[in-house]
Amino acid sequence: MGDQATPPAPELAAMAINDGPCLKHPFSDRAPVRSIVCRPDGGAALAGNRVRAGGWVKTGREQGKGSFAFLEVNDGSCPANLQVIVDAGVADLSTLVQTGTCVLVEGLLKMPPEGTKQKIELRVDKVLHVGPTDPASYPIPKTKLSLEFLRDHIHLRPRTNTISAVARIRNALAFATHSFFQEHGFLYVHTPIITTSDCEGAGEMFQATTLISEAEKLDKELIMNPPPTEADIEAAKCTVGEKSSVVAQLKAAKATKEDISASVSDLKKAKENLSRVEERAKLKPGIPKKDGKIDYGQDFFGRQAFLTVSGQLQVETYACAVSSVYTFGPTFRAEHSHTSRHLAEFWMVEPEIAFADLQDDMNCAEAYVKYMCQWLLNKCFDDMELMAKLYDKGCIDRLRMVSSTPFERIAYTEAVQLLEEAVRGGKEFEKNVEWGIDLASEHERYLTEDIFKKPVIVYNYPKGIKAFYMRLNDDSKTVAAMDILVPKVGELIGGSQREERYEVIQQRIAEMGLPLEPYEWYLDLRRYGTVKHCGFGLGFERMILFATGIDNIRDVIPFP
Ligand code: 4AD
Ligand code: MG
Repeated sequence: MGDQATPPAPELAAMAINDGPCLKHPFSDRAPVRSIVCRPDGGAALAGNRVRAGGWVKTGREQGKGSFAFLEVNDGSCPANLQVIVDAGVADLSTLVQTGTCVLVEGLLKMPPEGTKQKIELRVDKVLHVGPTDPASYPIPKTKLSLEFLRDHIHLRPRTNTISAVARIRNALAFATHSFFQEHGFLYVHTPIITTSDCEGAGEMFQATTLISEAEKLDKELIMNPPPTEADIEAAKCTVGEKSSVVAQLKAAKATKEDISASVSDLKKAKENLSRVEERAKLKPGIPKKDGKIDYGQDFFGRQAFLTVSGQLQVETYACAVSSVYTFGPTFRAEHSHTSRHLAEFWMVEPEIAFADLQDDMNCAEAYVKYMCQWLLNKCFDDMELMAKLYDKGCIDRLRMVSSTPFERIAYTEAVQLLEEAVRGGKEFEKNVEWGIDLASEHERYLTEDIFKKPVIVYNYPKGIKAFYMRLNDDSKTVAAMDILVPKVGELIGGSQREERYEVIQQRIAEMGLPLEPYEWYLDLRRYGTVKHCGFGLGFERMILFATGIDNIRDVIPFP
């Protein structure tokens, strides 16, 4: 880490010296544009090499009265385009120049004339593939499009500069995450997506059930094949009666073995039919109920199940066995906050550390955020430059500041005092500030953006506004929780030291009005070999918002 330009991958640099078809991607039939233009010399040293390149035309124009065309081709491997020149004799230029056309072309890399922006261009002598685009209907023309507009064309938006840069930044942050935790001896644990326990106890879970589709199927089936009536059941019972007297008569009359066994087989069939009819008669349209409530015993898992809001409870089981772990996966919240910082489906990074307290938790979270900022400066500088140009002038400086400045750490009580002081000084908030409130986004942002102008860790929150699993402090009023607040976003991380004392946590679950039964396995971690431990959750999309300065969280996840 440290330098800002990305050095070329060694294997590509080596290949570049050859004059044969060089720079080929190992698993696809072309050289990535990145391997040509994202070199310290802009690709100049590659002049004279033959390459095959592919991508989608960003802009194209015919020149020299239609004798040749300039194309700017992008394959998403980097923000820069490859400039491509095609002569009219090589292909139909009018198709090639349309924005959105896919091309696979081959030719010689050449130095462009003095004074042009590009350091290298491709003189095409072979066009191997054209995926044409009708400009009259293509929804992503080359004009600047708003992110809001692009959300209505979600499947084509990765073709834009912004969304492809966000994809590379997101990818880099995921890699940075694994790199950070792996370097520090954490084990990556996959926690379940479908679960029966509500980690946050906030009742914001999406339910996973087959009861509804099963009920619909049954409703349809009962319309096609109406259930048996009382008369049908009576008739089936009669048949059984008749068949069994036939058996009795044949036996009394000492009939042949064959005749008796034929009648017994008839009786068996009649009995089977009766039980089928009786079973079908029990079928009731709609969702199955028991004692007036929905009968989850008949649901897919035999009990109520949900999409996870957090992998924490499950990852704790691994922390309390293999010590340092993290999970990184999708989480789901049926929150009715349709803000630019909330998603119903988002990704969360959740480390969990045994033999560690709230201080360790804060140290780990701070080091991790710093690491990611430095990683982006090292690996995604060109994408960050695009973000600075289009969305947030200060985003690169912010990464530098965050990666090098210690975060502010203040207790919740102090934070509330600071906010109250601000109110006395004339600052107006929509939500009233007093000890005990859950800090609103406006308060969080005021602390980090106006008062401290850097990330702030607020710790020791009132127990009433935090989850049951957070460790109760000695004052019995606050818990060992910490939130990291950052400019632009507000809350980026929520974490805590966990309550490791069996009696205390049991009481907290009861206090919060939660049922004990679903948490019994979690309580076992305290019953057997309990240990001081802590962890946190980082909202992955919020980290991308913070890094890029993009305003709406829907633009930093591929499929919001
Ligand atoms: O503060 P939260 O609710 O903490 C937990 O879920 C803990 N179980 C984490 C842990 O200790 N292992 O959520 C953690 C972070 C928040 O700080 C926020 O960045 C993000 O997840 N987050 C959301 N991001 C996008 N959309 C939502 N609806 C979010 N809700 C939380
Ligand atoms: Mg939180």
